[in-house]
Amino acid sequence: MAKQALLPLCALFLYAVVYKCSANASEAGTILIQGGTVVNHDQQFEGDVLIQDGLIAEVAPRIEPPPGARLLDARGCYVLPGGIDPHTHLDMPFMGTVTADDFYTGQAAALAGGTTYHIDFALPLLHDLLQGYRVWKERAARGCMDYSFHMAVTKWTHDVAADMATLVAEGINSFKFFMAYKGSLQINDEELIEGLNRCKELGALPMVHAENGDMVAWMQERLLAANVTGPEGHPLSRPPALEGEATGRAIRLAGVVGVPLYVVHVMSIDAMEEVARARQRGQRVIGEPVASGLALDESPVWDSNFTRAAAFVMSPPLRSAEHAPALRKALASGVLQLVATDHAVFNSSQKAGGRRDFRRIPNGVNGIEERMHVVWQEMVVAGLSTPSEYVRMTSTAAAQIFNIYPRKGRLAAGSDADVIILDPRVKHRLGVGASHSPRMDTNVYEGKEVQGRVVTTISRGRLVWHEGVLDVAEGSGRYVPLPAFGPLFEGMAEQARRAMQLPYGPTPVPRDSEEAGSAASGGEGGKSCSAAGVL
Ligand code: URP
Ligand code: ZN
Ligand code: ZN
Repeated sequence: MAKQALLPLCALFLYAVVYKCSANASEAGTILIQGGTVVNHDQQFEGDVLIQDGLIAEVAPRIEPPPGARLLDARGCYVLPGGIDPHTHLDMPFMGTVTADDFYTGQAAALAGGTTYHIDFALPLLHDLLQGYRVWKERAARGCMDYSFHMAVTKWTHDVAADMATLVAEGINSFKFFMAYKGSLQINDEELIEGLNRCKELGALPMVHAENGDMVAWMQERLLAANVTGPEGHPLSRPPALEGEATGRAIRLAGVVGVPLYVVHVMSIDAMEEVARARQRGQRVIGEPVASGLALDESPVWDSNFTRAAAFVMSPPLRSAEHAPALRKALASGVLQLVATDHAVFNSSQKAGGRRDFRRIPNGVNGIEERMHVVWQEMVVAGLSTPSEYVRMTSTAAAQIFNIYPRKGRLAAGSDADVIILDPRVKHRLGVGASHSPRMDTNVYEGKEVQGRVVTTISRGRLVWHEGVLDVAEGSGRYVPLPAFGPLFEGMAEQARRAMQLPYGPTPVPRDSEEAGSAASGGEGGKSCSAAGVL
């Protein structure tokens, strides 16, 4: 009890530490983590982890300490791969303002919460992808941990198609299409289809923000006409049906084009069931819930205090109480594969821009620091998932999907030394006072008590969070290029070929008047199927 009361004070002290130590963060040396429960997505055993020169050198039941090694006692704790957050928005211009956390403050907070690598969404500059990439690289240069980028596509042109190839060569292997945010980021179906097809050609993973933006705009007008101007207008204008419809539409389009699809921030049963049905049909679809959608519901948006209500406004919105438990079960059973945050923080004065019109409340909530604790609480402490499954959903699955496994997402010799120690005995409370981002004055997890705490974070072999001290250096982050044609593309050509094995003979069908021409174009004994090349 006394410890909890002291937490906000400790947190204030830690803010100071973040910035005080930023000039001289510790070097990567030799670290031996001893006697913890070592967990990967496919194994768990009592053992040691040896770290040398930024990499994991050995993982074994017992390792003799090398001379000069720093020893960390992990008895009673779990030793896990560092968290990977595949969905963040740091330093992002959006809805007339800029997300409050930049690459330094956001990444520092992430490290204190056990996340050691993230993939941020770069936005084009006036639809120009290469300019957007250039700007994002400049912004990210301030950071203090490993990161990669997705790139959004907000318009379809020949330049965009060409620039996507350039960005793939630069190490961007995923592109996001917004089916909502009419008048700014939203693309139409024709553009989405072109984008899906280009992703297929390039071996890049298409991602969708799936909401029917036209219908959202229509709902917004009707609500405003009925004098609904407050934050509750936000979820009322974006019912789950609109998320389900867009999710199903994107999935069907990707299925016909013949490309895998990644659905970001699955917030509703409606969207989750579309993902489940597609996977049942054998389609390569990934569904990403976010920490807020797993742990929270929409009720605070009805709070009479505008500041509190607006803090919970995000898109797609938080849902009524039955959705989060269903999403947790879908995650536990593998219908949904991994957990992100969609960390897009705006402070209360930024949110206040929408005081008279809910459409102007910048959309987004926090989570980059809280995710690992929230997921541990909601999935492992709640008995839904094992520690190995936790590793899969917070780290390994993202590394596999974005083609950086086992360099990230695994405790094994040769992998990057991104390692965390989680003490399952420690209880603590989340909130503004406990956060390591100085930019947040609200926190959607305010007061939430969780069991299990990341007590140590090692990032590329450096001890950056230990014994309550955050020791990070601005500018020490590293861009990690991601190769195209990840595992989700394996077998896609064969799927397309089989899908085109029609029971009626070759396509195009040779007709009497064209017989000579068709024969010349080379049917292979009735098995040829030129249309398969289209797919
Ligand atoms: O409310 C949200 N999700 N804000 C960030 C932008 C997005 O749609 O991902
Ligand atoms: Zn989105
Ligand atoms: Zn997002």
